[in-house]
Amino acid sequence: MCGIVGLVSDSEISIKEDLLKSLKRLEYRGYDSVGCADTKGNVEKDVGEISKFMEQIKDSKASCAISHTRWATHGGVTKTNSHPHWDCKKKLFIVHNGIIDNYQEIKNELIDKDHVFVTQTDSEVISHFLEEELKSKNMVEAIKSFIKRIHGTYAILIIEKDNNTIYAIKKDSPLVLGLAKDRFYLASDIYAFSDATNKAIFFEDEEFAIVDSNKYNFYDSDGKEIKKEIYEFAWDLYQEESVQNYPHYMIKEIHEQPTASQRLINSLDGEQNAKIKNIAELIKNSKSVVFTAAGSSYYASLLGIYFLNRIGINAQTLIASEFHNFMLVDKDTLFIAISQSGETMDVVSATKWAKERGAKIVSIVNVPHSTLQRMSDISLEIHAGPEICVAATKTFTNQVVALLYLSSLLGFTVNMQTIPGKIDYVIKENEDIVRDIADGLCDKKDIYILGRGLCYPPSREIALKLKEISYIHAEGMMGGELKHGTIALIEEGTPVIALIPGKDYDMYSNAKEVEARGAKIITMANMMDSDFKIDVTINDGKFAILSVIIGQLLTYYIALKKNLPIDKPRNLAKSVTVK
Ligand code: F6R
Repeated sequence: MCGIVGLVSDSEISIKEDLLKSLKRLEYRGYDSVGCADTKGNVEKDVGEISKFMEQIKDSKASCAISHTRWATHGGVTKTNSHPHWDCKKKLFIVHNGIIDNYQEIKNELIDKDHVFVTQTDSEVISHFLEEELKSKNMVEAIKSFIKRIHGTYAILIIEKDNNTIYAIKKDSPLVLGLAKDRFYLASDIYAFSDATNKAIFFEDEEFAIVDSNKYNFYDSDGKEIKKEIYEFAWDLYQEESVQNYPHYMIKEIHEQPTASQRLINSLDGEQNAKIKNIAELIKNSKSVVFTAAGSSYYASLLGIYFLNRIGINAQTLIASEFHNFMLVDKDTLFIAISQSGETMDVVSATKWAKERGAKIVSIVNVPHSTLQRMSDISLEIHAGPEICVAATKTFTNQVVALLYLSSLLGFTVNMQTIPGKIDYVIKENEDIVRDIADGLCDKKDIYILGRGLCYPPSREIALKLKEISYIHAEGMMGGELKHGTIALIEEGTPVIALIPGKDYDMYSNAKEVEARGAKIITMANMMDSDFKIDVTINDGKFAILSVIIGQLLTYYIALKKNLPIDKPRNLAKSVTVK
């Protein structure tokens, strides 16, 4: 995963105010450690988050520098393993996002040639490989050899001491050049510089660029210079938001859901109306409709399948990382990828795979201009605004709202206009109740969430929230499946949350079965006795959204009580850009 930013300018820039501030905008890509290097030969790195690092280091100035925020893959979270990495003479510095698959083989060869490695990372082979190549070649030739010899995924920035030039190479991991008035940015995505310029050039696989303060040149893997188009992107002001008066982004984003869902509904009624109607037509006329996604977005896609199947449209969904193993697609397939970031490597890879087989590609994304959006035939935006907390909340809701709207165009009955108001009501009515219930769940090791049909995807989504933010082992299960094994784990006092829309007597019985074995039942229902107030028409889809929102609040208040790092939970990152 990781985020990288490089800056080159004809005047000196501040490492803290310019480079690291820009890097901070990419911290959602990983926050294990941070580092930077400039062409004067200064290097700083350490474990921890960027703001702490900025307090730690003295500001310095340089015309050309690179930086990195890490989500560890190979090698533990240590200062030594943090990027940048360098060569034996400490003259060449690199930052890398991705994974070098054949690093061990290359490392062994380089060790035989007397290179000394100091880290446990895969990335360090990059600097030593280039150092070795540069003994007999210039940088262009060295990069050409690198692309031929190195297997894996990479967005790499390279600088050399006393040479104000950044060399940038890309394969599978995203990389973009930002063209600002007095400087060039090289970054993992446009968010790094969207406050400074709206002009960008996206790298394609196996392309590299040489960028100095006056000019940039792009090359293909054979070293042939190529012409690239400048992309001008629009960036709405609401894309730049702060935590305001909230203690955490998560609770701010939970509370934003009425506004965010209304904004999406307005856009689907307005400027995105033709687009969503076009997608509905494609669904109607396609021989097969398949969805893919990861994590929360996958649970949203499961709801999409539920809505479409209810109205007689056969659609399937599969987790993106396993898509190619379990699904068939061809030119008659409509492939719909759902992703908040539009950068999740598993989703991008599955989409690439489907595209190569001739499928028509539709995406539903939150981040505009993302990799997934740019590779789609049609891309719908969910307009949730930036989601800073690692856990998906408002983006999950807006994905489901988009899918409900789409299904409604095909015959699914739902009153879209009442959704924002219902969300507002559910949050206001339940927040205090949730706080009390959360107090009683803080010390629990396991929580089970049961749902059937419409409530099965919410049960999975609530469990995911509980795991990632409140660090409680949680399982979301089909109500009917529990008795086929997992019921053996139910003990006196084990909390089980039962999602019971309408008069779902089967679900009610499943809850009773575990209660009879000592479980402590917490119910979310709208027609039966319930711990929570969810006042909605049954089975029009809103119950699914509203029960998840109660689950989000529950997760938040448990984590708050446990004093956990809510917005940046351990081991996670917002954008998962490795396979
Ligand atoms: C959970 C969460 C993750 C993401 C998953 C996919 O709260 O945020 O499970 O849903 O990593 O990310 P996107 O939607 O960006 O493809």
